[in-house]
Amino acid sequence: MTDPRANPEPIETASRDELSALQLERMKWSLAHAFENVPHYRKAFEARGVHPDDLKDLSDLAKFPFTVKTDLRDNYPFGMFAVPREKVVRIHASSGTTGKPTVVGYTEKDIDTWSTVMARSIRAAGGRPGDIVHVSYGYGLFTGGLGAHYGAERLGCSVVPFGGGQTERQVQLIRDFGARIIMVTPSYMFAIADEMKRQGMSVADNPLEIGIFGAEPWTEKMREEIEAATGLDAVDIFGMSEIIGPGVAQECIETKDGLHIWEDHFYPEIIDPDTGEVLPDGEFGELVITSLTKEALPMVRYRTRDLTRLKPGTARSHRRIEKITGRSDDMLIIRGVNLFPTQIEELLLQDGRLSPHYQLQVDRPGAMDELTVRVEPKTETAGDTAAVEAAGRDLRERIKTMCGVTAKIEMNEVGGVARSQGKAQRIVDNRPKG
Ligand code: DLL
Repeated sequence: MTDPRANPEPIETASRDELSALQLERMKWSLAHAFENVPHYRKAFEARGVHPDDLKDLSDLAKFPFTVKTDLRDNYPFGMFAVPREKVVRIHASSGTTGKPTVVGYTEKDIDTWSTVMARSIRAAGGRPGDIVHVSYGYGLFTGGLGAHYGAERLGCSVVPFGGGQTERQVQLIRDFGARIIMVTPSYMFAIADEMKRQGMSVADNPLEIGIFGAEPWTEKMREEIEAATGLDAVDIFGMSEIIGPGVAQECIETKDGLHIWEDHFYPEIIDPDTGEVLPDGEFGELVITSLTKEALPMVRYRTRDLTRLKPGTARSHRRIEKITGRSDDMLIIRGVNLFPTQIEELLLQDGRLSPHYQLQVDRPGAMDELTVRVEPKTETAGDTAAVEAAGRDLRERIKTMCGVTAKIEMNEVGGVARSQGKAQRIVDNRPKG
């Protein structure tokens, strides 16, 4: 008999009507829970003249106020918790670039929910009970490591809790233990793939079959590049600490066509980031998420800053988000032109001579912004000076034509571009602040 954990939960393929009915019931609970237990929500609802009882239909959610990252910071550390602190069994936090960290908390039931959606995500990615799962997401205050860990255990896998760093040893253990699945940021996967090559591990020797990659934007080109370099199936996982951590949305291995938002726990909306107006499914805008079951930290209309669109379900009935290629706060404006790092990634990877490691630097030496794109050749190309120079010139041309920006290409030696062991830092912005 097959392990029942190998099968999707019935809710993953429930009808839209069934899902909507469940969402409405849970949303009513969640709004009331937030209103009754978090002074911030009570004040924000009252300022808008709304009460949880005003929610009769899912579309009524649009009447409620948004929640933003600064609301969490302003209520630092535990002011957004909706349960007594003693009920909180886990705390995670993100460092943020400036000021106070964003603190998130979980009750025992929240940890259970998180484990469930993560187990579901790993299964949708092709994982099965009994698989060896190598976790290279960072453990600690970051939600990646522990989120992946609890989900893989819940699914019935054997977890190797490696965390980030010590790349050489990571490869050794992947080989010795025969891990079938790796969970890691796509940028760090490249450092691992480089190390595999250095150790002489061929695609045929590589026991890994599936990579579950997320925590940062990555393009379809990057998927092709990873799959070609390692021979594994690369699927996308999405999430954020404020909503629960990883496991908010997951791409299915059989379709690889975007990420299903687990709508029985997280309700998505897409808004126009300038006006806040809710946009119909299919239109591009900012993703907003409302938690439906979370106890410790209910989130009402949380503005993620992530830009995407909503599409109908395919392999699962839950709606999909298109691969997220940028956050509104990652958008560079260079001499009036809007630019996302993933646009450069796309162009860079069209050139087989260049490696996937890159970084963008912006300076303002005088009145004008200057963009430098830091890249390096692939090992195979590195010895051919003419080819390397031509690759740099071609990239500069393509960026100019496709993005409308004049960039300086800084061609490094192999290994010269900073490697990530977690989320890659794609942008170094040296412009004066403010
Ligand atoms: O990055 C949670 C996570 C861990 C997701 C491991 C997936 C895998 P935060 O540190 O709070 O949480 O960062 C959340 O990361 O708003 C997105 O901007 C970005 N992000 C996460 N997953 C993806 C993805 C974790 N698959 C922020 N594609 C989010 C693009 C992603 N961006």
